[in-house]
Amino acid sequence: MLQATAELAERISTISVSSTMKVAADAERLRKEGADVVDFGAGEPDFTTPVNIKQAAINALDSNFTKYTNTGGTLELRDAICERHQKDFGTNYNGATECMVTVGGKHAIFNLIQALINPGDEVIIPVPYWVTYKDVVNYAGGVCVFVETDESTGFEVSAGLIEKHITPKTKLVIINSPCNPSGGVLSKEEFRAIHEVTSKREIFLMTDECYCQFVYDAAPFSIAAAPGAKENVVVAGSLSKTYAMTGWRIGFALAPVPVIGAMMKLQSHSTSNPTSISQKAAVEAMRGPQDSIPTMLAEYRRRRDFVIDRLRKIPGVSIVMPKGAFYAYPNISVAYKSGKIKNSLDFANQLLTSAYVAVVPGEAFGTNDHIRISYATSMTELERGLDRLQKFIDSVR
Ligand SMILES: Cc1ncc(COP(=O)(O)O)c(C=O)c1O
Repeated sequence: MLQATAELAERISTISVSSTMKVAADAERLRKEGADVVDFGAGEPDFTTPVNIKQAAINALDSNFTKYTNTGGTLELRDAICERHQKDFGTNYNGATECMVTVGGKHAIFNLIQALINPGDEVIIPVPYWVTYKDVVNYAGGVCVFVETDESTGFEVSAGLIEKHITPKTKLVIINSPCNPSGGVLSKEEFRAIHEVTSKREIFLMTDECYCQFVYDAAPFSIAAAPGAKENVVVAGSLSKTYAMTGWRIGFALAPVPVIGAMMKLQSHSTSNPTSISQKAAVEAMRGPQDSIPTMLAEYRRRRDFVIDRLRKIPGVSIVMPKGAFYAYPNISVAYKSGKIKNSLDFANQLLTSAYVAVVPGEAFGTNDHIRISYATSMTELERGLDRLQKFIDSVR
C-alpha cells in the first residue's frame, strides 16, 4: 500500500502548520464540545465590512461580473490601489506594470519570496516576527537570519542591527510595521535609515503594510515614498484588516516591473486572478469613503488602553505599549517560576484547556516568554478573558 506521508514532497516538511490557525482550530473544537471560550487568538477585526463595499460586490454579482479577470487583477483595481497609495502616502506607482492584486496579503508575500529567493539566499527577519515569513522563506530554500530585538526598546529594530546581519548572501530584509505580534511601529527616520542600508547594499526591502492604517500616535507613512525606494522596495499590502475584509481575500504588491512580472507568472499557474466579485468590492474600498478606518482605530485605541491597563495590574507581567495594529504581547514568564508551566506553548495550552481563553504562544513569533492577545474583540469579551487570565496566572505562579 502507498505510504502517503513517505511519498510527500520533501519541501513540504520545511514548513509547519500556522500556529494561529492551530489555536483557532483548538478553540473551535472546545467550543463545539460546549465550552465557553474567550477568543483572543483571532487576528481579524470583529467589525463588519462597510456597507458601501458590500454593495459594490452585490452590484458586481447583479451585473454578472463573475468571469476570469487578468491574472494580476483588473486594471481598474490596480489603478485604484495605486491612487489610494498615492493619496495616503505620496507614492507614485503604475497600475499596469508595478502593481498586482493577490489572494490576500499573504499570497503577495508568498509570490514575492518564491519569485525572489534562491536556495541559500539569506532573508533578514526581525524577532518577534509574523509566523508566515519563516515558513515561506524555508519553503523557497532560503535561510532565515533572525534579528533579536529587545522588549525594553519596544521590540524595535534599528538600521544598525540590520546592518550587522547583512552578508554577501543577503537578498531581502522584511519589515512589518506596525508589527504583528508586538504592535511596535518604526519611526520614519529609522525606517528610512533601514532603507538606506538596504539600497546601498543592493538588497530588497519588503514592507508588510498589513496594519499600515492602524497607528495610534503618529501619522501613517510608507517607506515606498522615500527617494529611490521604488528600486528595491516591495510593498505587500492587504485590504483584510484596513477594511475588515479578511474573508474577501484581496491583497496586493507594489514592486519594480521585473519583480511584478515574475510574481504574475507564478500566480498565473496557481490561483489565476483573485475573485472577480471581491475585486469590484476592493475598487469601492479604495475609491469610496474612508471614514470606517478612523472609527475602527478609535475603538482599537479604547480597547488597547483597557487591555494594557489590566495587564499592568497583574504582578510580574510586563507589557510594551503597542503603538499600532491590534495586538498586545505581554511577557508572562512569571508563570514559569513554579515549574508548573515550561514555555509559552505550554502556557497557551493550559490557559485554553483550563480557563478557556485562546491566545497564541510567543513561540510562534520567535520569543518564548510572551503570548499574543488580539484585542480585536468586544470590551465584554476582553473583560471576561482578562479576568480569567489573571486568575490563571495567580493559580500557576
Ligand atoms: C503581518 C501580517 N501580514 C500579512 C497578513 C496577511 O493578511 P491577508 O492574507 O488576510 O491579507 C497578516 C494577517 O494576519 C498579518 O498579520
